[in-house]
Amino acid sequence: MDNVLSVARKLDSFGISRRREPVIAFGGGVLLDTVGLAANLYRRGTPHVRVPTTVIGYVDAGIGVKTGVNFDNRKNSLGSYYSPTAVLLDRRFLATLNQRHISNGLAEIIKIGVVKDRRLFQILESHGELIADERFQGITETGESVAVDVLGTAIGRMLDELQPNLWEHNLERVVDYGHTFSPRIEMHALPTLLHGEAVAIDIALSCVLAWRRRFITIDELERVVAVMARLRLPTWHPACEPQLLRKALADVTTHRDGYQRIPLPLGIGGVVFVNDVTNKELAEAATILKGLAFP
Ligand SMILES: NC(=O)c1ccc[n+]([C@@H]2O[C@H](COP(=O)([O-])OP(=O)(O)OC[C@H]3O[C@@H](n4cnc5c(N)ncnc54)[C@H](O)[C@@H]3O)[C@@H](O)[C@H]2O)c1
Repeated sequence: MDNVLSVARKLDSFGISRRREPVIAFGGGVLLDTVGLAANLYRRGTPHVRVPTTVIGYVDAGIGVKTGVNFDNRKNSLGSYYSPTAVLLDRRFLATLNQRHISNGLAEIIKIGVVKDRRLFQILESHGELIADERFQGITETGESVAVDVLGTAIGRMLDELQPNLWEHNLERVVDYGHTFSPRIEMHALPTLLHGEAVAIDIALSCVLAWRRRFITIDELERVVAVMARLRLPTWHPACEPQLLRKALADVTTHRDGYQRIPLPLGIGGVVFVNDVTNKELAEAATILKGLAFP
């Protein structure tokens, strides 16, 4: 929140015209969230343009209408719905990201593939490492076509979900896949896990829950875990203890208005929402996941 206040002070000191001079935010998800919230609060709303420079910014934080900052050790507990005037996408920004932040962003793309787009998932299986190595820059001909395809598909599928439900009146959100347990895991593990890494662990844990309920096969579970290992994403963390997972489940049930509404994969590319995951089931799934996780 301190960062939001310093952005607001800067806007004040620049003396910007709130009608004619939009704030232009260049950066990753944290910066876009911070500036978006400051722009929303400053004089009850100042236009802003988002220019994402990370993979998470490009396929997720940059293109929705949400802003959020962590507060009192709670993930995104202060935030708003505030749409940008425009979003400018240029994947050349991604060229300078380090490999960890490329993988971090790929977690949000895997998410879309697993619950919404089987073809996208298959491309990540066959070409994910190439895309990561080339940082989405298309150094080879194949790298170029898959980078364009993967980024375009991930954004398109994301917008298919966001557009009809911008204000989240429907709390059964497919894009919440990977975001049920991850907020607690991420905040507990700070600074050791990045956002996408916590999402990756949640994706894997949710796949184990899905496998135990026969929504996906063991082969599909192993494919998801394998693609994450190849893309250097974690699928387990010592924070995944029963007590923390219990708190995560309680948090999310409150956040989703009294129901768990947990999105689980149905095969690869489909989704089902469940409301009856028990703490015992969750603890058992975490134990199985620990055994499956790659070193
Ligand atoms: N509002 C939303 O809808 C939404 C959606 C998804 C994620 N998020 C939020 O986004 C955050 C994660 O975003 P992130 O992964 O972009 O992390 P980040 O914003 O922390 O950026 C990661 C790092 O990359 C650096 N960086 C940015 N652009 C760079 C570039 N082009 N080259 C080299 N380094 C660069 C940044 O300075 C930072 O150190 C989380 O806090 C998450 O909650 C928000």
